[in-house]
Amino acid sequence: DLPNQVKIVEVGPRDGLQNEKTMVATATKVELINRLNDAGLSVIEATAFVSPKWVPQMADASEVMAQITRKSGVTYPVLAPNLKGLEAAIASGATEVAVFGAASESFSQKNINCSIAESLDRFRPVTDAARAAGLAVRGYVSCVLGCPYEGDIAPAKVAEVSKALYDMGCYEISLGDTIGTGTPTKAQAMIDAVAKHVPVEKLAAHFHDTYGQALANLLAVLQMGVATIDSSVAGLGGCPYAKGASGNVATEDVIYMLNGLGIETGIDLEKLAETGSWICDQIGRSSASKVNLAFAAK
Ligand code: HMG
Ligand code: MG
Repeated sequence: DLPNQVKIVEVGPRDGLQNEKTMVATATKVELINRLNDAGLSVIEATAFVSPKWVPQMADASEVMAQITRKSGVTYPVLAPNLKGLEAAIASGATEVAVFGAASESFSQKNINCSIAESLDRFRPVTDAARAAGLAVRGYVSCVLGCPYEGDIAPAKVAEVSKALYDMGCYEISLGDTIGTGTPTKAQAMIDAVAKHVPVEKLAAHFHDTYGQALANLLAVLQMGVATIDSSVAGLGGCPYAKGASGNVATEDVIYMLNGLGIETGIDLEKLAETGSWICDQIGRSSASKVNLAFAAK
């Protein structure tokens, strides 16, 4: 059974831009977020309060948060890997933060410089302090369908990390196919394992499209009751610690598919596609969204 409604978490301004080698102007990031707002997106992951030595592109996180036009009813979550990031996020007026772990030890080391167990110990005080300050906390798990360093990842490991994040107070667990190697039955087996420990309505699918499987994987998990999808306008992005991985599934393509399935999202596809073309022009990339290419050819 498909859900009646799907929540879209637009991650383009963060996941989409974090891997750009050339610095994107703060004003461009701000305009991107404002345009996504106008297209009807109601959750827009805006930036990341991470170490600028690790991810230089996100060094202007505070400026981005200060300059965006915030609409009521719209949330602008940000990444916060530790207390330092949380403090800066709170100071910037964030109302939601995300901690990000992994189901792979090697990826955890490369991405956040600690083991999975250490990361969970580090996230607990972040989650506690965030919730005490009235913020919502989202938990990411990376490498749920494969790791760039370890290959296959056991669904039981994904379930274990997801449960730990959920138990510490994350209201939603976003399951990242960081390198986009998953296929539909694998994605279903992974969700099946996780849903034994975390209610399926608390799960989000965060699928990268490296091998062109993301939409198929999304349909497979929608059929299991997953009703939150992370996506990136124009399919931008990649992870600095997952070489060769492409962007998230394109938001335009997800909306087109959901429209066809009769699932309501409240998003203006035309405006969204214009935004996709605009940001691609700004950063000198071609769109990875098929819908965008089809619109452009009309
Ligand atoms: P570390 O080097 O172990 O941390 O990094 P540290 O505590 O030793 O600090 C080192 C330096 O960074 C210090 O500065 C700190 O002050 C500074 P120094 O004293 O050398 O001048 N620092 C910070 N600065 C600003 N904000 C902060 C912060 N924390 C420390 N929050 C750390 C550990 C976690 C900080 C680092 O590894 C890091 O920032 N990693 C982030 C990597 C990242 O952003 N990756 C991409 C996002 S995850 C992703 O894309 C996957 C996802 O999309 C899901 C999926 O697709 O699977 C979410
Ligand atoms: Mg990602």
